[in-house]
Amino acid sequence: MDELKDLTIGVIGLGHVGLPTALGLADLGWSVVGADDDDAKARGIAEGRAPFYEPGLDLLLRKGLDTGKFQVAPNGAAAARRSTVLMVCVGTPQRENGSADLSRIESAGRTIAANLDGYKLIVEKSTTPVQTADRLRQSIIRYSRRRSPDTGNGAAPEFDVAANPEFLREGTALDDFFNPDRIVIGTASQRAADLLSRIYQPLFDRAGRKAEEALVVTSVNTAEIIKHASNAFLASKVSFINMVADLCEATGADVTDVAHGLGLDPRIGPHFLEAGIGFGGYCLPKDIRAFQKVAQDHGVDFSLMNEVDSINRRRIDAFIEKIRKALWVIRGKSIALWGLSFKPGTNDIRDAPSVSVVERLMAEGALLRLHDPQAMGEFQTRFPASPPQLVYADTAESAAEGVDAVALVTEWPEYGEVDLRRLRGRMSIPLIIDGRNMMDPEAVRSLGFEYYGVGRP
Ligand code: UDX
Repeated sequence: MDELKDLTIGVIGLGHVGLPTALGLADLGWSVVGADDDDAKARGIAEGRAPFYEPGLDLLLRKGLDTGKFQVAPNGAAAARRSTVLMVCVGTPQRENGSADLSRIESAGRTIAANLDGYKLIVEKSTTPVQTADRLRQSIIRYSRRRSPDTGNGAAPEFDVAANPEFLREGTALDDFFNPDRIVIGTASQRAADLLSRIYQPLFDRAGRKAEEALVVTSVNTAEIIKHASNAFLASKVSFINMVADLCEATGADVTDVAHGLGLDPRIGPHFLEAGIGFGGYCLPKDIRAFQKVAQDHGVDFSLMNEVDSINRRRIDAFIEKIRKALWVIRGKSIALWGLSFKPGTNDIRDAPSVSVVERLMAEGALLRLHDPQAMGEFQTRFPASPPQLVYADTAESAAEGVDAVALVTEWPEYGEVDLRRLRGRMSIPLIIDGRNMMDPEAVRSLGFEYYGVGRP
């Protein structure tokens, strides 16, 4: 297909979705040009510094820059001018009423509209409420006409819009890019569907897979709902198992065994059934609220999502109560917190349970010793060290020095490798509150620890 010769793909927004996508596409052999409104971030990327921790990203960034397959444009307009396919990967943060703030999508659309010169395919990769791609299309028509008198007299500019939502998880983003479960392409245009399928084809060639097994071609509205519904369903699974965990805890059953028994049913599946202190991060919490808001705007009852959200918010209360029950009085107690990122494999602390846990424990007068393998830098900009109330420790073990309890918030694998005998010697009181059921209760107790998990006897 001629269109593919000299094809350049522009990626607007180089965050947790945009940067792994851009570098993944460059690694597949496409010429990719990225742009980000944050100049300092864009400059850092151009100099080979990834703006956040993601396994393998540094290496792929250096490779992309060295081969010249990945370049950084000075701004979105320059990226738009150079590209035939434009992937919009900007943030859609939550507004106060729960809806998604689409101003960055709209602004990217206007930039593209001002630079339409020949056919372009605009691909919405950000998570957006249903009908956003339609609005984007209308906005591009409006602004390109306003800008260009040549196409202003009724002749529509030549472009297509597709919704191609991204399902990457933080911490495994590159793995997810190279081994997708599915690639959803929502578009009314055959040309757009063909173009996107061809762009992703090398993924399947590399893995010896058939593209048909993973490609889902739908309308734009359907594609947008697939994305929101996926995150809402995952969040529902987590809240469901957390609800069941409370009953297990009240009755002496074990939620990890319940989850195992449930997950063996292929209709349910084993994933996303880990009880703990709830889901966090930039996606699940805001996406369930945005999904609910768009349903409400259309008069559809999505109150199930309300419950999912409030069960999740109550996890923090339950965790604090668990600490209180174990320590009786929190004020003046020294507590080590293990894990600050919202999940292992990332330094992202947006909507991380750790943030609320730290705020609550500090307000109650605890003395906190914090550790995380990757996220301490991020955390310190939000909570600067202030000894003795708030101390950052280099290792999990040194965080536990002289403490009355260790509270495990994020299940980084290294916490499973801590020498528990040595740990016990360093703690003032051998007490572990495991918010992620990471440890084996019997083994920990047999070493003389008092141990509390979630939903376990
Ligand atoms: C999510 C979606 O999984 C991904 O497809 C989408 O593209 C972006 O949003 P991510 O935010 O990276 O990805 O995190 P995810 O792995 O989904 O975990 C979300 C939260 O749920 C984490 O805080 C995690 O600790 C929690 N979780 C997950 C549980 O508490 N229990 C589980 O069983 C699974």
